Amino acid sequence: MRLWAVRGDITEADVDVIVNAANPGLLGGGGVDGAIHRAGGRAILEECRAVKAGLPEGRLPRGQAVATTAGRLPARWVVHTAGPIWSASQDRSEVLRSCYRESLRLADELGARSVAFPAISAGIYGWPVDDAARQAVAGVRSLSPDHVREVRFVLFDDAALAAFEAALSG
Ligand code: APR
Repeated sequence: MRLWAVRGDITEADVDVIVNAANPGLLGGGGVDGAIHRAGGRAILEECRAVKAGLPEGRLPRGQAVATTAGRLPARWVVHTAGPIWSASQDRSEVLRSCYRESLRLADELGARSVAFPAISAGIYGWPVDDAARQAVAGVRSLSPDHVREVRFVLFDDAALAAFEAALSG
């Protein structure tokens, strides 16, 4: 499985699965969540509503992942995961690694060969990007998928790109 980092807009990634940094409510938001819903269109939100109805109290537990159509995006599916909110007093690293591991596991179960991840929790959720990158690489490397051959970290700014390149070379 090839892991690499690239600067870009994840809604343009030509992969089988695009991973969304969502929230437990699953009905959209800002950041990459907003970009994916805007670019992918209403079909994604409609499926999020249907998936949400089957979740405990209608909420996606942080660290877990669900899949929907990708709508108008170049991908076949969007895998939505809810990252942990950064805390200086509580170590939530395992939840962040779980976002990557469970999203990759689900993408593999769907038969995906390529997966694009954003820097989950490194935006509105405030996670320091260097550590977010380390948790991302650790989470992806903790799984040996059957079908996925490529994992692409798609970063929206140079600082995030540098952090992920450093984490990948470590
Ligand atoms: N493509 C790739 N990366 C992007 C894009 C994009 N189009 N837009 C934003 N990003 C980057 C941000 O720069 C950041 O590095 O994605 C990373 C994650 O940032 P957020 O999208 O803010 O996600 P997160 O920190 O996990 O916060 C999730 O924000 O958008 C809401 O509904 C979402 O409540 C949830 C929370």
